[in-house]
Amino acid sequence: MSASNQFHTAAASPWTSEDAWIGSRRPILEAHALPAAVYADQDFYALESERVFGTSWVCIGVADEMRPEGQVMVRDIGGLSIIVTMDTQGGLRGFANSCRHRGTRLIESDCTIGRTIRCPYHRWGYDRDGNLISTPQFADAGVDGFDPADFGLHPVRVEQWECLLFATLDHDAPSVEEWFGDLGRRLSGYRLESWRTHDSTMLDIRANWKLITENFQEYYHLPWIHPELAKVSRVVDHYRYQGYGMYCGQTTTPITNDERGDWAAMPPAEGLDHSDMASGRFIALFPNVMLSVLPNHVFVIRLEPLGPGITREHCTWLLPPGSENVTDEDFAVTHDFWIHVNGEDVGIVERNQRGLGTGGYTPGRLSPRFEEPLHRFHNMLADRMTGLSRIPDGDPSDDLPLYGTGVNPLPWRDTHGRPTREVAAHERHA
Ligand code: FES
Ligand SMILES: [Fe+2]
Repeated sequence: MSASNQFHTAAASPWTSEDAWIGSRRPILEAHALPAAVYADQDFYALESERVFGTSWVCIGVADEMRPEGQVMVRDIGGLSIIVTMDTQGGLRGFANSCRHRGTRLIESDCTIGRTIRCPYHRWGYDRDGNLISTPQFADAGVDGFDPADFGLHPVRVEQWECLLFATLDHDAPSVEEWFGDLGRRLSGYRLESWRTHDSTMLDIRANWKLITENFQEYYHLPWIHPELAKVSRVVDHYRYQGYGMYCGQTTTPITNDERGDWAAMPPAEGLDHSDMASGRFIALFPNVMLSVLPNHVFVIRLEPLGPGITREHCTWLLPPGSENVTDEDFAVTHDFWIHVNGEDVGIVERNQRGLGTGGYTPGRLSPRFEEPLHRFHNMLADRMTGLSRIPDGDPSDDLPLYGTGVNPLPWRDTHGRPTREVAAHERHA
């Protein structure tokens, strides 16, 4: 497989060579951080759009943003505008947002349409399966060899995974379930597909999208940037949560202590096991989602890069079934806590961007204990940029300390009580 998709041909650049990534390819104990250009350079940004966002499963929204009654989403991924809707059978469908007559953009922004997607220019119409179904006056005087069946909208793959929607421009990509590896199994106890949006907001951050997800992936900064968060998500209670799949994860167990109860104001989801009930799961899905899964709410941040130094954050809070009676006051405690914590992160990542964008930085070193997920993320990035399609392995076990973390008192277990490595071994032999 390659970093091309059917809409782009991969261009050559120094960034597509392994030589550019040598500091990340070293083992974590010797690895360097990424150079400044990766965060600040316009040419890198353009190539990354094509090679990372143009070939990955990119999150395009929360599942319940899409409603069956003619809802259409418009998203940009990998430099391409796509439209996402539901077909006549209720299945998700994605298409390039370009008319098959002379290429006009079909839909400008999220909206509700009837049964037909109609181009504003000469009124060619497509049904929600993408078939060209009307071409007013086009062939009245005859057009040689014109068959409407040849001019349906170009399809784009769209899939739901848990409570999120993803699209990819790569026809050869594995399924989204395979892309995220063992993560669906790890999160299966939450049954996230049944959780619903309670609130959402959006903000623009003057920082590269990678700085935002990298900041989320490390808890090194916790004591200094988030003194309040560090009381419910203590540094010593962080453990590894990283198996096979395109994600970087960590868990906090337990998530609350006696000092603060911000995350305990709402009732937990039903049916969680001891580990899920006591933990927060903090997972960066490659490339563009930060997922914080708590027993009683999920906080999703979807990153939409707008330029090398600017990123739009789409924030959504979801609650589990049974939360219908959650009061505004109870939710406000959780909501305000996240807004406060996120504000602290925004301040520091914007400052990080300013430091990288104004020269003088040469790549530093990473802390294996706190920043190993960044090393994993940098290597996923390097893989996509160099055209290597692979899904990384994770830790052999959630039960072992690594790089100075302690032993998780309540590691993840499947419904048979088996740890990750036994589940993986069982599947290999099945
Ligand atoms: S460009 Fe769409 S109908 Fe002509
Ligand atoms: Fe933070």
